[in-house]
Amino acid sequence: MSTTAPALPADLEAGLRRLRLAAMRRLAPELLVAAKTQRWSPEELLRTLVEAKLSSRDESNTRNRLKAAAFPVHKTLEEFDVALSSVKQATLSYLTSLEWVRAHENLCLVGPAGTGKSHLLVALGHAAVDAGHKVRYFTAAELVEALYRGYADNSVGRLIEQIVRADLVLIDEVGFAPLDHTGGQLLFRLVAAAYERRSLGIASHWPFEEWGRFLPEQTTAVSLLDRMLHHATVVTTEGESYRMREARQKGGRPPKP
Ligand SMILES: Nc1ncnc2c1ncn2[C@@H]1O[C@H](COP(=O)(O)OP(=O)(O)OP(=O)(O)O)[C@@H](O)[C@H]1O
Ligand SMILES: [Mg+2]
Repeated sequence: MSTTAPALPADLEAGLRRLRLAAMRRLAPELLVAAKTQRWSPEELLRTLVEAKLSSRDESNTRNRLKAAAFPVHKTLEEFDVALSSVKQATLSYLTSLEWVRAHENLCLVGPAGTGKSHLLVALGHAAVDAGHKVRYFTAAELVEALYRGYADNSVGRLIEQIVRADLVLIDEVGFAPLDHTGGQLLFRLVAAAYERRSLGIASHWPFEEWGRFLPEQTTAVSLLDRMLHHATVVTTEGESYRMREARQKGGRPPKP
């Protein structure tokens, strides 16, 4: 704010404070000066104040959605080097368009360690938040743990409904740890609840034919994959681990497996 703009009259200041119109309160003194010196029409002044309020509300909504998404790290699509990845530019462009989120379709990223699965999940999630979508990120372990807690106190149905209020539910590291019978059932319930209503984005080391390794019951694995893959983009990431490549470029030895 310019130091020359006179403060707002106390009643206006108090009214805007009561109405929680902080952005308007902050900008109004300067805008009133501009309106007088530049002979704005009353409509123009009102429009500028309304626009200031709207953009501050949009920013605060985006901040809240970003917090609710609970991303473990900050990754962006700009930081993703497509030339160093096996993901094709056309596939990345489609994913970046977020058309699949609007169409309640899924994304499955499958590939070995360090090939950019989590980076892509988080970066696409971030882009979805910026585009106005509600997003929630979990590792499969965190998700199953939360569902287990709900199962124990009989609130799992409510918890699942709450999770699928997000437009995009991201489940990373699927299959890092094996699930027991109940864990598999709970994961199935979540996938079934999201089916054709919301988008799921999952990442796993395991190709689908190997999902029996961590889902103990064959029929659950089949039904879960059936729903997940019905409307899905499947992206296989391959090649050398980006972590290994970076370690080598820094001159260090790659960590022992
Ligand atoms: N194409 C890429 N461009 C830029 N950074 C990348 C790329 N691929 C991977 N990275 C970076 O390499 C690191 C490892 O990638 P990421 O965590 O996405 O791997 P991952 O496939 O999820 O591995 P894991 O299966 O072990 O979880 C991250 O810091 C990520 O930002
Ligand atoms: Mg990962």
